[in-house]
Amino acid sequence: MNVAGIIEYYEKNRGWLGSKDRPRKIIPYLANMGSVLDVGSGNGECFAAIQEANLPIIYTGIDCVPRHLTEAKERFPTLEWLLGEFLAYDFDSRTFDAVISVQPFSTDGWQIEDISPFVDKMYRLATRKVVFLAQAWYDHVRAACSRYQVETNDRMNLPTGEVLLVCLTKSSPAGGAA
Ligand SMILES: C[S@@+](CC[C@H](N)C(=O)[O-])C[C@H]1O[C@@H](n2cnc3c(N)ncnc32)[C@H](O)[C@@H]1O
Repeated sequence: MNVAGIIEYYEKNRGWLGSKDRPRKIIPYLANMGSVLDVGSGNGECFAAIQEANLPIIYTGIDCVPRHLTEAKERFPTLEWLLGEFLAYDFDSRTFDAVISVQPFSTDGWQIEDISPFVDKMYRLATRKVVFLAQAWYDHVRAACSRYQVETNDRMNLPTGEVLLVCLTKSSPAGGAA
């Protein structure tokens, strides 16, 4: 993972941070979740969807682009925002009921080899669910997820383009690696 590449990508694509239809797709999976970690939180669009749905969730966002977190803090100053690259960030012994991520990949900064460690770390930090929307590298995402208990693995066409929605669950013993 190359953080400088990710920062450069979002400098070049300043308008492309997120869209409302995508974060809303993960909301149905977050019922009864107490705490949520949002990986690649951007400026807080997933939390906006959580708030819109009135879910009483204790939210933490992490993002490696300082400008995105500055915007997120301006929008939602009372929430916890972590500045850092997800794979490198040390969460110590912290866990979250659910770990979510909405379209984290970028053509600069990310490589296919990052996908497995990314899925593995989200799964490790979650006590109940991992829910994420991938906007690329579908076969690799599916391969990385196949070691876990997959509740949903759907490709869907949204007004803003195609995505793969994945939900991994830990609610019953998973046959795969943990
Ligand atoms: C396309 S934006 C989506 C933002 C938000 N999830 C949304 O749906 O509005 C992807 C975000 O993920 C962040 N990101 C990408 N890779 C990351 C990584 N490895 N660690 C932390 N943040 C990352 C980017 O900085 C960017 O803010």
